Amino acid sequence: MREIIDVQLKTRKVDFSKCKTDLLAVGLFSDAKELDRLNRELDDKLNGAIERLIKLGDFEGKDGTSAVVYGNDNVGARRVLLVGLGEKKKATLDTLRKAASNTAKKSVEMKIETVGLALHKALGARFDLSAMGRACGEGIYFGSYRYDEFVTESEDGRLNSLKVEVIDSGPAKTKKLNKGLSSGIVIGKAQSYARTLANRPANVINPAKLAAVAKELAGGSKLLSCTVLDEKQMAAKGMGGVLAVGSGSQNKPRFIVLKYSPAGKVPGTRPTVALVGKAITFDSGGLSIKPADKMDEMKLDKTGGIAVLGTMKAVAELALPVNVFGIVPAAENMPSGTSYRPGDIINTFSGKTVEVQNTDAEGRMILCDALSYAVKQKCDIIIDIATLTGACVVALGKYMAGLMGNDDGLIKQLQKASENSGEKVWPMPSSDEYAKEMKSKIADLKNIGSRWGGACTAAAFLKQFIGDKKWAHLDIAGVWRFDKTDEFTTEGASGFGVRLLTTYLINLTNKNKR
Ligand code: BES
Ligand code: MN
Ligand code: ZN
Repeated sequence: MREIIDVQLKTRKVDFSKCKTDLLAVGLFSDAKELDRLNRELDDKLNGAIERLIKLGDFEGKDGTSAVVYGNDNVGARRVLLVGLGEKKKATLDTLRKAASNTAKKSVEMKIETVGLALHKALGARFDLSAMGRACGEGIYFGSYRYDEFVTESEDGRLNSLKVEVIDSGPAKTKKLNKGLSSGIVIGKAQSYARTLANRPANVINPAKLAAVAKELAGGSKLLSCTVLDEKQMAAKGMGGVLAVGSGSQNKPRFIVLKYSPAGKVPGTRPTVALVGKAITFDSGGLSIKPADKMDEMKLDKTGGIAVLGTMKAVAELALPVNVFGIVPAAENMPSGTSYRPGDIINTFSGKTVEVQNTDAEGRMILCDALSYAVKQKCDIIIDIATLTGACVVALGKYMAGLMGNDDGLIKQLQKASENSGEKVWPMPSSDEYAKEMKSKIADLKNIGSRWGGACTAAAFLKQFIGDKKWAHLDIAGVWRFDKTDEFTTEGASGFGVRLLTTYLINLTNKNKR
């Protein structure tokens, strides 16, 4: 099997024009009147090649674009990559993250071995150097990622590794960049890990395999432990929701619990956080079967659970001072003679009964048990992440995740984390009107609402398993995958949630330090 491209990243103190590298990446804004200092210096050494290229109209600095200028004896770089940053006033940290992605993606395509990354220079003092280092790290992993582990006959000749140095001529600056870069590496790597797991098809990853992956993850860190419940243990606990969904498949469900406990003391005021992720390793719809078209995409219905695994990996490597549970109910939703049926009434782990009206609304059936589990573990804050509804995709399209919850403070913190991480969210309601639609005449709840507002009724269903805990819900059905390769990354699983949730936890440990 082909290994995923190995990225090696570090910082280096070196004079920009002297940096010996296959490709030196510099940033340019689309509305800049003239070259900035770094680019002017490079251009002088390149005898005006950058200016000529721009004058010819071959590069305008637009976001997502780039152009190559070849080096000469005056500069250490064999190539200079001009990377478009778009309009200066619109620039955010995500501009830098995306420019780094763009650079990494081009570098892999061009079979470049070494990259000198000087993109942060164009942003000057607008952002903290450490934050810029982190964005560069995250972006490089994001852009160089491609999922080709099962391709045995490719002639693309891609290299197995990419070496990137984030460079600056000032030692103090390099040091600050490095501080952020080291967390960027951890987060970027965790996101790529999540993308690979999510991209693996359902014949490769089933609930038991996913549980083995979680065990392996925990085995690699002293700060993580992993408990897995099999179907018998779930039955003993009364986890009827997960069992019902898993009942149609030969591949039995698993209930995966990762626990992260940092080595040092955690401030007593700091909440214990539960991250709950939906892991349907394949969603055929069950007896309420889905149409054949694009059913293959439903191998990615485990994406929420995998975002939780990726986040737990990052949290452990960053050794964050906060207690975190990662709770991942895993099942395969299949039609068969043993499947749960429309009309069935299920006893969930909470004690509430649910009338199944559609077996394709299975995500909420497994999540309700997992949310109850988090409540029983006395977690103060519960955040779930799930490819829950097509309705969320209809509402928001493919750029943002739906964000619901019962606590304004928590919603604000997630919005902040979204801004920091570049993984976009948009607030949506889950109020009583929606909850009312989920009442059943013959059980406590039913698992589908009316035709309208499906993302909101789904969230309102989940809300009823939260008790008095603070809760937020991320519906990632629209952002789970990229339909096609673009300037920044390749098609397939997006790894959405790893950056957002890790950033949320980092921010949590930065405030209320007591
Ligand atoms: N996994 C799907 C939701 C989904 C749809 C994810 C499109 C990604 C892209 C979920 O289990 C599902 O089937 N939801 C149903 C719910 C309905 C039966 C109430 C849906 O959205 O159609
Ligand atoms: Mn479904
Ligand atoms: Zn599903």
